[in-house]
Order: sequence, then structure tokens, then C-alpha cells
Amino acid sequence: MKRFLPLLFLVGLGAALAQGTEGLWAKTCAVCHGEKAQGVRPYPGLQGVGPFFATPEGRRYLVLVVLYGKKGEAGLMPGFAQLKDEELAALLNHLKALLQAKGDPFTPEEIRKGRGLNLTPDGVKRPGKP
Ligand code: HEC
Repeated sequence: MKRFLPLLFLVGLGAALAQGTEGLWAKTCAVCHGEKAQGVRPYPGLQGVGPFFATPEGRRYLVLVVLYGKKGEAGLMPGFAQLKDEELAALLNHLKALLQAKGDPFTPEEIRKGRGLNLTPDGVKRPGKP
């Protein structure tokens, strides 16, 4: 039994972290985009962003959207720059899992590189279809 304790601990930690991200998604993003990113009227679903996880300009766009928000035809999304790099990376990775999108997981470092640009939601532009 003793040898399994570290393993149990890791499994528990993994579950707690996953639950933490799910909880964060629920209170930060799901209000508008839904538990499964399907969208909550009048807010849009996020199915269309799947391909962005796999291209450099797409990934940059995703980082800018979560940091600075986005304004467009579907309405206004506020930015979440007040969250930590780790939290924003975890939220984008949660979205990636929901969409079963291809591409590397986001790291906190990748989020950090998008900071300090002083953008407003209407300054964040969606790249063309990858
Ligand atoms: C207050 C509602 C609201 C919340 C909360 C919100 N969003 Fe949004 N989000 C929007 C709206 C509205 C748009 C579309 C803006 C537009 O018309 O371009 C959008 C757009 C996006 C897009 C770009 C979609 C595309 O097709 O280009 C992504 C990615 C996104 N949101 C992710 C998130 C994530 C991740 C969170 C949680 C950190 C979040 N959103 C929280 C309202 C919200």
C-alpha cells in the first residue's frame, strides 16, 4: 500500500487541478460561451476557433482575446488580464480539449508575451481562416 501512496497523491492532485480549471472555466467563460463552448444566447459558440490552436497567428489571436477581450458583430467580450498567466493558459487548454483541437498546449510564457500591449477589445482582430 505504501508504494501506492505517492501515485494516489498524484492522481488526486491531477483531479484537483482539472477540477480547478473546470471551475475557473465555469465562472469565467461558461457564463457566455457555455460549459462545452457551445455558446449561450446571445453569445457565440467557439467551435470556429479550433484551427487557431495550430497556427502561430491563430495562437497569438487566442492569447490577445483572453487578455484584452474582443468586440465585434457578436457583441463585447471583456479582457481577463487580471487573471494569472497560468490561469489563462489553463483556460485556453481547457477550450482546446473541449474542441478537440490540434496544436501544442499553451504555456504561461506564451500568455506573458501578449501582455503590455494596451489593446482595447476593438483592437483585437481575428486572423483570416487558417
Ligand atoms: C460577457 C460575455 C463573455 C465572456 C465572459 C467571455 N466571452 Fe469570449 N466572446 C464573447 C463575445 C461577445 C465574443 C465575440 C465578439 C465578436 O463579435 O467578435 C467572444 C469571442 C471569443 C473568442 C473568439 C471567437 C472567434 O470566433 O474568433 C474566444 C476565443 C473567446 N471569446 C474565448 C473566451 C474565453 C476563453 C473566455 C473566458 C476567459 C471568454 N471568452 C469569456 C463574450 C464573452
